[in-house]
Amino acid sequence: MQGIKEKIRAIPDYPKPGIMFRDITTLLQDARGFRKTVDEMVQPLAGTRIDKVVGIEARGFILGGAIAHQLSIGFVPVRKRGKLPWKTLSQEYQLEYGTDSMEIHIDAIQPNENILIVDDLIATGGTAEAAIKLIRAHKGNVVGCSFIVDLPELGGRKKLEALGVQVLSLCEFD
Ligand code: PRP
Ligand code: ADE
Repeated sequence: MQGIKEKIRAIPDYPKPGIMFRDITTLLQDARGFRKTVDEMVQPLAGTRIDKVVGIEARGFILGGAIAHQLSIGFVPVRKRGKLPWKTLSQEYQLEYGTDSMEIHIDAIQPNENILIVDDLIATGGTAEAAIKLIRAHKGNVVGCSFIVDLPELGGRKKLEALGVQVLSLCEFD
């Protein structure tokens, strides 16, 4: 079987000129590729107690839901502003131009719960940093952040490690 990295499609100039978009749909549509991805995203944390998975909108929902099912634990969505129906806590994060915010339900995380954050890709790390702040505001422990893809030149891994968070990824692209 091709490796996980080889199953990720590169789309030049999407969504803007100059961006090489890393499209994981080609990996997820492959049954063995999807299963291997889910297995490898949690394998380094074997033996660590994880109470809940937090998945980041949108592709973190697909991966996080599968991982939560695999581990027989609960799933919590972190969503973009205005999408969650109940009371929320919000955290701003930087976009290329301006800011946006991510939200979590106020009753989603309990103090001292061990949380694994899941998304498809880390670039600048701003989105994952917002999720970490939301979990820590509820006194949850972030035991790791797991991604399929790391874009190391954009510095996200270092940003999260500076916050004391373990970062896992399955492959890197320049
Ligand atoms: C992508 C990706 C991560 C985020 C990473 O999502 O799925 O969530 O960017 O970027 P960062 O490390 O620089 O914060 P995007 O913001 O494109 O939103 P989408 O999932 O709604 O497409
Ligand atoms: N999010 C930020 N940069 C990205 C990229 N190059 N591919 C996919 N998602 C991204």
